[in-house]
Amino acid sequence: MQTIFAPMSNASQKPSIENTQLKDIVSHAKEYGFVFPSSEIYDGLAAVYDYGPNGVELKNNLKRLWWLAMTQLHQNIVGLDAAIFMHPLTWHASGHVAGFNDPLIDNLDSKKRYRADVLLEDKAAEYEAAGQQDRAADLLATMGKLLTDNDLAGVKELIVSEKITCPVSGTANWTDVRQFNLMYSTQGSAVEGDAAQIYLRPETAQGIFVNFLNVQKSARLKVPFGIAQIGKAFRNEIVARQFIFRMREFEQMEMQFFIRPGTEMEWYDTWKQARRRFHEAVGLAPEKLRYHDHDKLAHYANAAVDIEYEFPFGFKEIEGIHSRTDFDLTQHQELSKKKQQYFDNDINPETGKPYGNYVPYVVETSVGADRLFLATLCQAYTEETITEGEGEKEQTKQRTLLKLHPALAPIKAAIFPLVRKDGMPEKAEEIFNALRYDFCVIMEERDAIGKRYTRQDLIGTPFCIVVDGQTLEDDTVTVRHRDSREQTRMPISELRAYIGEAVSFSRLFEKL
Ligand code: GAP
Repeated sequence: MQTIFAPMSNASQKPSIENTQLKDIVSHAKEYGFVFPSSEIYDGLAAVYDYGPNGVELKNNLKRLWWLAMTQLHQNIVGLDAAIFMHPLTWHASGHVAGFNDPLIDNLDSKKRYRADVLLEDKAAEYEAAGQQDRAADLLATMGKLLTDNDLAGVKELIVSEKITCPVSGTANWTDVRQFNLMYSTQGSAVEGDAAQIYLRPETAQGIFVNFLNVQKSARLKVPFGIAQIGKAFRNEIVARQFIFRMREFEQMEMQFFIRPGTEMEWYDTWKQARRRFHEAVGLAPEKLRYHDHDKLAHYANAAVDIEYEFPFGFKEIEGIHSRTDFDLTQHQELSKKKQQYFDNDINPETGKPYGNYVPYVVETSVGADRLFLATLCQAYTEETITEGEGEKEQTKQRTLLKLHPALAPIKAAIFPLVRKDGMPEKAEEIFNALRYDFCVIMEERDAIGKRYTRQDLIGTPFCIVVDGQTLEDDTVTVRHRDSREQTRMPISELRAYIGEAVSFSRLFEKL
């Protein structure tokens, strides 16, 4: 949910506690090269993370899937890659300079800073956990009204009257509540002063709005049409927690769909369904996904819904779908003094004349690449008990694996010579060379075969190809499947088609 103008409300959510499963996932992500804390040798930078060798592959696969699902699969959606820096007036027009704020409060004893609304939401969650649903709802309603009225003194009074204390100092020695703008700014030129102040974009959407006519004209598009973009966004989040769920530098995948005014509810519904299908196709369990309609709409929106995923810390937003009316384009028209209109020469059946000139309405779909990554990782992370060996040698053991869809897995296949002799490494290298043009594959010779399987399970590699004595005689290999651990013998000549079918995006696209 975007903070702009509308107070945050997490009424139906569990308290934001880091639970054991999240801790396991965070350490797994670090140990196996998915996500590292930024500049860790200097003790890290809060809410900023780096993607490691496996993380970048998984994230790129998710981004590529989204990109193709938006652009390649639709004749009327095209891509854009706008700059992060934009003319400062952009952010005045969008309302971010005036309204992209969170209410913050400091504790004078601990010197710790908090989001005032989060302190109150956590208190409400405590009431809920104690079975006092009405009290929780009353508290949230009071807070919502105070924030809507921008009554910051009232918010402080509420914190004090609820006897909320700082978790670090244990005291209620609070400063006044004040609004804190989430945009990062920097100097746009060598000359200091207001005019030179530019912002790091807090959403990618505005790059699409200001290019609406450039794209429409150059790509000769007719309404309805969409513009899709993937890019970095920056927000100076006060509360940074839950790993890569809330970051200060993150990536968004946004699509603005430009439509005829009056058709917005139909398109809003279409995209609401389509985006949920996408998340299910990626592999997120249907029962872990839900819609959350916004109770309070930002003043430019006439409908807004979040798609939430059940993370280990509760149901939280991964994507927002907003019917943004003509708010953004009209604002840009006013501040830039450049018409942001489209001439619609389709015939209006009611008048028998063309629809003519209008500022299009917009339905936006906006998903965080990092949140989708985290949801995918949480969904894939599996700990299970397995039985190995037969008869007297049978033993049970625990294994951890990532059940990623093969199309998303960082590495598609690992090729192992059973032993490092008898020509097996050479044969494995031959297979590696034959597959590497099509797929991300690796070759591993070290350690016992069981250990090598375990390493690949931990990073979600769907197939392990083993070269053994029989391979040298008949050019067949065993293919071991990550989830079932079953092994299939097949000719080397069939590997490309077999892996290609399993890792193809086509199987995912069919579900959209
Ligand atoms: N253009 C609309 C917009 O920016 P938003 O709900 O503020 O709306 C859209 O953000 C998506 O961006 C969210 O659903 C979330 O996935 C992602 N997102 C927002 N803030 C984020 C943060 N601090 N860290 C990671 N992802 C974030």
